[in-house]
Amino acid sequence: MSLKLGDTFPNLSMKTTWGNLNLYDYLGESWGILFSHPADYTPVCTTELGAAAKYAPEFKDLNTKLIGLSIDPIADHEGWIKDIQEYNKLSGDFPFPLISDDRTIATQLGMLDPDERDSTGMPLTARAVFVIGPDHKLKLSLLYPATTGRNFDEIIRVIKSLQLTAHHKVATPQNWKSGDKCMVVPSLTDEQAEKRFAKGFEKASLPSGKGYIRLTPDPSQS
Ligand code: BEZ
Repeated sequence: MSLKLGDTFPNLSMKTTWGNLNLYDYLGESWGILFSHPADYTPVCTTELGAAAKYAPEFKDLNTKLIGLSIDPIADHEGWIKDIQEYNKLSGDFPFPLISDDRTIATQLGMLDPDERDSTGMPLTARAVFVIGPDHKLKLSLLYPATTGRNFDEIIRVIKSLQLTAHHKVATPQNWKSGDKCMVVPSLTDEQAEKRFAKGFEKASLPSGKGYIRLTPDPSQS
């Protein structure tokens, strides 16, 4: 299965470090991030899972639940979590579950990295990220190879953009941060934008004479 944006994410049955879970029950009304890593007890993954755990309070504030995945046994996940916590100077309970996949989910969701294989020659999972909305639809996906670690600041940033643009007719420009100006979406006419944005919008003057760059204050800020 190759999931496209807007597709309904499957309601996975998952064996995890928090017991057997069903994805929709786990997520409840929240947004969700299901992300995979190539293997337990590997260096880049140790930094990534540490970053995800450090950001757990921020994800919670964004009403977003995390769940990790790799093709490793639960006992390995549990042992490795101790290393992740020690290396990343974290304490307390690990803030999200890790799925122990038997390749079923990785194959179903197209997460396998053909260039990285385990000692038996089987492909490892790549660094996939699926952002799932409260409606269980796929809102964003990223797929990095095993050799490139992800940036969890960027993942927080895109959640903020996705949540803003789910409720307002704006798009966020490159490297946008909460509070920065947003772009009025091209599908709105100027008249519709004037009605919709109380603070108005400014239009960039361009050589083409086309008024497609319309900036408006972040509509989520009072
Ligand atoms: C790592 O997490 O460091 C890693 C895992 C698989 C291949 C390459 C790097």
